[in-house]
Amino acid sequence: MKTIISKIDMNNIDLEELKKQAKLLREGKTVIFPTETVYGLGANALDESAVKKIYEAKGRPSDNPLIVHIYDKSEVYDLAKDVSEKAEVIMDKFWPGPITIILNKKDIVPKTTSGGLDTVAIRMPSHKIAREIIKEAGVPIAAPSANISGRPSPTKANHVYEEMNGRVSGIVLGGDSNFGLESTVLDLTVDIPMILRPGSITKEDLEKVINEVTIDPSLSKKEDNKKAKAPGMKYTHYAPNADVYIVSGDEDKVIDRINNMTEDNSKNNIKTGVMCISKNKKQYIGEVIALGDSLEEVGSNLFDVLREMDKRNVDIIYSEAFPTEGVGQAIMNRLLKSAGYKVIEV
Ligand code: TXA
Ligand code: MG
Repeated sequence: MKTIISKIDMNNIDLEELKKQAKLLREGKTVIFPTETVYGLGANALDESAVKKIYEAKGRPSDNPLIVHIYDKSEVYDLAKDVSEKAEVIMDKFWPGPITIILNKKDIVPKTTSGGLDTVAIRMPSHKIAREIIKEAGVPIAAPSANISGRPSPTKANHVYEEMNGRVSGIVLGGDSNFGLESTVLDLTVDIPMILRPGSITKEDLEKVINEVTIDPSLSKKEDNKKAKAPGMKYTHYAPNADVYIVSGDEDKVIDRINNMTEDNSKNNIKTGVMCISKNKKQYIGEVIALGDSLEEVGSNLFDVLREMDKRNVDIIYSEAFPTEGVGQAIMNRLLKSAGYKVIEV
């Protein structure tokens, strides 16, 4: 497939160029565009044959539902029913922004979009390019992360170009995503709202505006993962080619253990990558890539570093563990999945 590529400067958006891409969406074709979380692979959410093209381009299982992206809050009432007071509060406080809400769907949303479920996931992104495209398309846009199923989500223009050129009708290249982790997914069809996928809007942030919020308990353990309520959380995910291990415990011991394993690996011709907080970078041997200083930086760099490790052809990756408060919850969720839940406690 010939892909139409548009390079857009965030500080000087070329609206004519975006209109070309929006036209593709209106014609039932697929277009990749940047959002504040990760790049999305969009198509008309209300057109089943368009939505099928998303599943094809990603190689995604068809029981894994898609998020419907809207331009304006008023569209929610066309797509969903039983919109509760709590849902109103969440939308007013956090939209546009990196949170997706699950509501009971109306018939207008095809089952192909909802993965066969009676609920629908809706998000209003804040990214300027995403907003313009959705507005110009004039229809709600179903958009999963724009990666081949199972791979880390794309957070930079070169990620989508390298992986998806030729697989979709259009690609809008628009710089780096701001957050680098996918949106928080919050189920609002239950009495006590439940986080099905942690993101940069945290449990703590949500509890400030709606009293009680729980986190899907099946996310923390490998054995329970197949019970995850967001179908997408069950699959192997965020996986680079290398085998990933998280090494957790007292900092000095973690550094010693990783360096010992790296030395043993190199004796056996196994190339080792290490992911760590910036301040520890100099203490490690091997292919060391710093993830950043703060949890926010680690979140925004994680997927890029996993892809960079692939480019460096490492066989094994050891990652430091991170505290699970705030955005750390989302970081550890993605890291655990990319590691297939393999944690070495020291
Ligand atoms: O930040 C994001 O959310 C990005 C950007 C492009 O907006 N999109 C994204 O989509 O991450 P995707 O398809 O990669 O992840 C959607 C997640 C999956 O885990 C899926 O199972 C879950 O949301 N989900 C979607 N609809 C659902 C529903 N009705 N009930 C439960 N989980 C749902
Ligand atoms: Mg995804």
